[in-house]
Amino acid sequence: MFELNDKIALVTGAGSGIGESIALTFAQAGAHVIVTDCDNDSGQATTRAILDQQQKAAFVRLDVTDEDEAVRLAKRVVDQHGHLDILVNNAGIGRVGTIEQTSGEDMDRLYAVNVKGVFNLSKAFITGMIERKRGTIINMASIGGVVGIRDRLAYCMTKFAVVGITKAMALDHAAQGVRVNCICPCRVETPFVQARLKEYPDPEKAYGEMSATQPIGRMAQPQEIAAAALYLAADESILITGTTLMADGGWSAG
Ligand SMILES: NC(=O)c1ccc[n+]([C@@H]2O[C@H](COP(=O)([O-])OP(=O)(O)OC[C@H]3O[C@@H](n4cnc5c(N)ncnc54)[C@H](O)[C@@H]3O)[C@@H](O)[C@H]2O)c1
Repeated sequence: MFELNDKIALVTGAGSGIGESIALTFAQAGAHVIVTDCDNDSGQATTRAILDQQQKAAFVRLDVTDEDEAVRLAKRVVDQHGHLDILVNNAGIGRVGTIEQTSGEDMDRLYAVNVKGVFNLSKAFITGMIERKRGTIINMASIGGVVGIRDRLAYCMTKFAVVGITKAMALDHAAQGVRVNCICPCRVETPFVQARLKEYPDPEKAYGEMSATQPIGRMAQPQEIAAAALYLAADESILITGTTLMADGGWSAG
């Protein structure tokens, strides 16, 4: 088990699914986790679950699309903890549809959360990391950030952008001691996917079909993505920066 003893970590979208699992895993590994989400109830539930295990966490409501909120949060983290070691840009939303079924408004909304959200938080925290010559940023991209996925036009646009931000920042800040990586999961069984399934006429059939499209024959579980995030957060991955860690059960191998 990699350890994050005494590290300060912040996870966006930590009220549900992959983000929740990352927050729990990081706390279990010894980090103090700043749990953030735009949804109060789910963010607080994740925080309570960590505190109930006698581990360290605090909840701050954060909408990643709000640049000013991100700046205020960065100041608050420095005031309370002195610095941030690990930033996980996990918050994200999806949208099913081809270009004909996608509006300009859909494109703007997905960009605002999935791309601008990563930009806002990274910009708010990078200077402090550079000053300390230490820090790691983990972005949640997707298999849809390296290959096209049918019916996911807006989503693929945003996740390719997340891979791009990751690589550009990794190069810019490698010599300054800041590592920037992203994880590209295949389909993970979370409320995000459960919501998508409800959009199909026969959700049970769609579940079977989604599972069958994955080389491992099943969807991934959130803890399996959290394990990849733990590796990227830990000092053992010191040489890894600018990578797209394919936690995809072999999807991108073909
Ligand atoms: N589930 C999958 O199959 C899958 C696959 C590849 C990548 N991903 C990516 O993983 C990340 C997490 O997905 P998930 O499946 O756990 O989703 P989820 O819907 O279960 O959780 C997402 C969380 O983000 C929060 N959120 C949404 N908009 C926000 C905003 N503007 N500001 C702050 N928080 C916000 C939601 O409240 C929710 O708690 C996303 O970036 C997603 O694109 C998911």
